Amino acid sequence: MVSTLINGIETSSIDARDRGFQYGDGLFETLRIRHGRPCLWSAHMARLAHGCERLGLPMPDVALLCDEVERLCCGGADGVLKIVLTRGSGGRGYRPPQDPAPTRLLSRFPTPDHPPENRMRGVVVRICDTRLGHSPVLAGLKHLNRLEQVLARAEWNDISIAEGLMQDIEGNVIEGTMSNLFVVQAGVLRTPELSRCGVAGVMRAQVMAVAGTLGIPVGEGRLGLRDLATADELFLSNSVIGIWPVRRLDSRDYVPGPLTARLAAAVDMCND
Ligand SMILES: Cc1ncc(COP(=O)(O)O)c(C=O)c1O
Repeated sequence: MVSTLINGIETSSIDARDRGFQYGDGLFETLRIRHGRPCLWSAHMARLAHGCERLGLPMPDVALLCDEVERLCCGGADGVLKIVLTRGSGGRGYRPPQDPAPTRLLSRFPTPDHPPENRMRGVVVRICDTRLGHSPVLAGLKHLNRLEQVLARAEWNDISIAEGLMQDIEGNVIEGTMSNLFVVQAGVLRTPELSRCGVAGVMRAQVMAVAGTLGIPVGEGRLGLRDLATADELFLSNSVIGIWPVRRLDSRDYVPGPLTARLAAAVDMCND
């Protein structure tokens, strides 16, 4: 079965001059595939379109992307799909070409073998030393510059630790290295605001929308380590894992709580 398509062609080679490779000039989406179909497709396409608008990249034809996803996922199996979109090759130095010919890279991967108890019992999480810089112009986007996450993820090898939380340069807790963070305080759901750094996750938006329909008060704001230490419940979200309750953060234990369980039961990871 095909596992990589670059601009619709079965190949794994990319032009060395591609700006995604040279400068991280592009965006990506990571989607869950269930029974051969991409989950939360519209939300991922909306984020990609928004990212393209912010970076001045032409958005690929969604019908074309759909055809390519179909080619990659036609076996009907579960897995993960990664879509990378770059500004393509060309331009002088950093200066982008006036008429870019973007590169579309679609790859299919097996579902990661995370222990199933991560969802039920929760995960152990640590605080990373690597901080997120402020870059309002890129905040929220799933752009290709991921060095801060790479450095943060290199901080631990202990396989019992599932995720690391990252603070910004001012000590605000922002997100995990590969996930967004939610905190429950006295029945209120809170998640860090992402105007200066962080990725506005598709699953984060899904969780906030579902909380709204369940009548759970939800808000974005600044959160510090103290808010985590005094929280009743903590959980992480991303499009592939869904929701993972946190059962331990450094030396503090949490009991995966009722609000996390309600949201995990109500969030449909695959609604289109
Ligand atoms: C740094 C970071 N934040 C948040 C997320 C969650 O995003 P999504 O819900 O769109 O999967 C990811 C996903 O990979 C991520 O890498």
